[in-house]
Amino acid sequence: MKTCLTFICCSFVLLLCGKSVESAKILGVFPMPGGSHYILASKLMKGLAEAGHDITIITPYKLKDVPKNGTWKEVLMEGFVEDFQFRMKGEDLYEDSKRNSLEKIVSYNHLMLSWVNNTLYHPDVRKLINSGEKFDAVIMEQFFNEAHKVFAHFFKCPLILLSSIGPSALVNFVVGNPPELSYAPHFFVQADLDHGMGFFKRLENLLVSAGESALRTYYSTPLQQEILEKAFPEAPPITELQKLVSLVLANSHTSYAQAVPMVPNMVEVGGYHVDPPKALPKDLQDFLDNAKDGVIYFSMGSNLKSKDMSVEKKKMFLDVFRKLKQKVLWKFEEELPKRPENVLIRSWMPQQDILAHPNIKLFITHGGLLSTTETIYHGVPILAIPVFADQFANAFKAVQFGYGLQIAYNAEKFSEKMLSELIEELLNNKKYRENARRRSKLYHDRPLKPMESVVYWVEYAIRNKGARHLMVNGVNQSWFEYYLLDIMGFLAGIVLVLVYLVKLGCKILCCKTGRAKNVKEKVN
Ligand SMILES: *[C@@H]1O[C@H](CO)[C@@H](O)[C@H](O)[C@H]1NC(C)=O
Ligand SMILES: *[C@@H]1O[C@H](CO)[C@@H](O)[C@H](O)[C@H]1NC(C)=O
Repeated sequence: MKTCLTFICCSFVLLLCGKSVESAKILGVFPMPGGSHYILASKLMKGLAEAGHDITIITPYKLKDVPKNGTWKEVLMEGFVEDFQFRMKGEDLYEDSKRNSLEKIVSYNHLMLSWVNNTLYHPDVRKLINSGEKFDAVIMEQFFNEAHKVFAHFFKCPLILLSSIGPSALVNFVVGNPPELSYAPHFFVQADLDHGMGFFKRLENLLVSAGESALRTYYSTPLQQEILEKAFPEAPPITELQKLVSLVLANSHTSYAQAVPMVPNMVEVGGYHVDPPKALPKDLQDFLDNAKDGVIYFSMGSNLKSKDMSVEKKKMFLDVFRKLKQKVLWKFEEELPKRPENVLIRSWMPQQDILAHPNIKLFITHGGLLSTTETIYHGVPILAIPVFADQFANAFKAVQFGYGLQIAYNAEKFSEKMLSELIEELLNNKKYRENARRRSKLYHDRPLKPMESVVYWVEYAIRNKGARHLMVNGVNQSWFEYYLLDIMGFLAGIVLVLVYLVKLGCKILCCKTGRAKNVKEKVN
């Protein structure tokens, strides 16, 4: 009887203590449609479910393979995907780089604004908010969606942010992470990391960062504030909601990104979306196994389609591939006439498992963040053909880190000859492969695997009720206090006053001696 009672007591205590960590209730707010954002969001929440947590996710897509552990509940935002497809229909993504950065930010803002707004009004979302359901944490992506921080206010729990491009101007200000303008380029500025940033690069970096920050403060956040106020008049202002943030999961890693300082509540989890290699479909396995000179894998990612490339570019690629002794696997989304024998096309490819094959010699990619991460995981050199957004910066880094070469899709010098030379160089010069392998080794050399890190830190934030002790004080300072501009102004003021006084002193002294001299002369 006694042992039985002790057992029951112990189990009860265990149940109470262990609950928040063993099986937490986590809300993921990820209504944004579009390839890579969704991959990052769903993989993150799936990983947490597989660790045994109960997940509710606000999402535009239904997940096909629901996780086996934990629970998985979707609040589906119907129509978002169709809306996205409709907006993208008229746009030629391949021409996107011809728009300027400011124009792009403004257009991202508006695209996001309508999704943020529609999520806040969605009947199922409202039902969830009013359901009285409890959550231990809310996770969302930080991406022009400030109004969604209100979910952490409704559920009175810690807020965790996912920064899909790692530490950057998109997220630094939220947790007071130092932007280090003197050597860490803003994502719109391309700088040579090896040779540092010279005077004009730093000036450009400062101006772009300041401009983007002003745009955020005076344009984008007020728009978010406006829709939040309309949707939930009782909600606190966004500046207050900002303070609910506990933790930032930075989707980056120093094996493929520049080393920069990170505040204690910003943690590197880059690569958590990469799965261990699985078996390939038989036809692809045979194709790869039987390539005695190796295989080039070519994919422009999930948003860009190879079939939408201009006719002349497609021809250039085919003409170059035709002359190679290597085989080529090309993710191409329709029939491709006049295709050489060594080229195999598929509308979908198990990219990660292909990159894992030892016969892959080169990856031709648009340079998206997920693709570059996967290539580092497997140590495959790249030819990057950036088209828009962060692809230029990723391509640039691949060149800097010595594991790739690049040519912008819209570059004027893009020719068949150029393409051929780049591919030959990458295939024949061993240094690219060696550097890719070296980066791969760095990628895998960490105390916890990236997904284990995600789980550890999310549970840490839950266990410690937000872990606000990790937040630096810089978040509470205004920008002129943060950069000591008031102090510098004050010191500059003192110097000016001193200079003035000395000048005045000299004048008086000069006058006096001058007068004395005059008097003397007169006497004589
Ligand atoms: C499933 O979740 C439980 C916690 O609820 C955890 O202890 C267990 O390790 C998880 N299983 C796997 C395979 O991860
Ligand atoms: C937000 O959605 C509501 C309800 O659909 C609509 O009335 C309002 O005009 C929208 N606001 C914006 C800025 O799109």
